[in-house]
Amino acid sequence: MLICCKKSANTTGSTSTNTSSDTTYNTLYIPPTLTGTSFNLALGKSSKQFFTGATTQTYSYNGLPFWGPTLIFNKGDNVSFNITNNLTDTTTLHWHGFHIPAIMDGGPHQKIAPGATWSPHFTVMNNASTFWFHPHLHEKTYEQITMGAGGLIIVKDPIESALNLPRTYGTDDIPLVLTSRRFNSDISFNTNVNDYGDYLLANGTLNPQISLPKQYVRFRILNAEIERAYNLGFSDGRTFYVISNDGGLLDAPVGVTRVVLGVGERVEILVNLGGDNVGSSLKLMSYNSNQTFGYPGGESSQSGALGSLLNNKDFEVLKINVAAANAQAITSIPTKLTTNTTLTAADATSNISTSITAGQGGSEFAFDNNNYNYVTINHKIPLNTTVKWTFVNSNVFGHSIHIHDIQFKIVSRSSGAIQNYEQGWKDTFFLHLGETVSVVAKFDDFADATNPFMYHCHFPNHEDAGLMGQFIVTP
Ligand code: C2O
Ligand code: CU
Repeated sequence: MLICCKKSANTTGSTSTNTSSDTTYNTLYIPPTLTGTSFNLALGKSSKQFFTGATTQTYSYNGLPFWGPTLIFNKGDNVSFNITNNLTDTTTLHWHGFHIPAIMDGGPHQKIAPGATWSPHFTVMNNASTFWFHPHLHEKTYEQITMGAGGLIIVKDPIESALNLPRTYGTDDIPLVLTSRRFNSDISFNTNVNDYGDYLLANGTLNPQISLPKQYVRFRILNAEIERAYNLGFSDGRTFYVISNDGGLLDAPVGVTRVVLGVGERVEILVNLGGDNVGSSLKLMSYNSNQTFGYPGGESSQSGALGSLLNNKDFEVLKINVAAANAQAITSIPTKLTTNTTLTAADATSNISTSITAGQGGSEFAFDNNNYNYVTINHKIPLNTTVKWTFVNSNVFGHSIHIHDIQFKIVSRSSGAIQNYEQGWKDTFFLHLGETVSVVAKFDDFADATNPFMYHCHFPNHEDAGLMGQFIVTP
């Protein structure tokens, strides 16, 4: 464990991490953007100084220190890429949330050998929202994501652009990628299969702070963790507004004081700083104390593979220092955002049921008793079928379930109501321990008799261990 650093003080005694008055804050890193229709991304080794006096080896795209550039796409554009692998290990690059052909999806089958370049292209069909890209090589996803490989994607479209919303990137429209890492004593990343990191990183920044203008501010938040869920809220309990989740805008802003974000999920929120005094500060927190078992990061242990210094705590995510309003201040929010088409259980023309079970060879987690393998096609879905897909979790822990290709509607949660902020289009949802959740989606494009799409737990360690399956959309 940490022995060299000031931060190690947090490992003893205190029950509240990152909230002591002597915390040294670092300015939140804002990843640079890449725009246009043709993009070059090169994954390679890099490094970043997280702690004074020590450098940590990382992986990143385009030589950035940790975590890649933010790609900005316009709906309707034809985009193309050169993805170069400068690692000594094979990788892939997956477009999380995108509705694109399986062969372009960057799942485990679209391998990029060391030194090779993969050149996918697709039409951006998704609505405006926040997406991401990350490696997806089976049994290497945990390691490559842990080392820092990933990046955000912002899609813009005419409906979102016509709304009076904050959208000046880095000024009042803030990307916020949440994860955590465990460090070895030499401050290298600990890449043993840990479920949790010990130190929160927001865009790769330890103890982050940001100055934000005294007006409505938007955050695009991605949970890029290994397992931890975030129960987000502000330190003064103020109401904030969810305007978008995984697949696009909600019909109208949803006022909340907490939003739970599982691994792989995104939300866009608006928070009003217009009533705050210039010079005051506010904290975005994760209220992870006293969760029921099965909530990832609620465990009481502080160390070991299932433990973390952040477990079962309310911890600080971002310190916000309020500065003067700017000239383009957004001072109110729209009451109506978009009109999403409804898709209900009654629209389904076929059903799939998937259970979380144990697998072979001591695997703790598998779908329907079978560990993932490259050749088994678990489901064949005829083109234009509307499927109600039910996930049953009577196994030992909660999971974050992601389906490639489609955006779906959550139509039932056996544990109770679907949260208002989970309405709209989703590609990932948290599946509680003991819960059954059904989603409905239409598979109306990209029939391909041979190239499969993945569905899996988005905890990279679970996915690598076999909690993944694949389907083809048949002509
Ligand atoms: Cu975020 Cu199968 O991926
Ligand atoms: Cu899982």
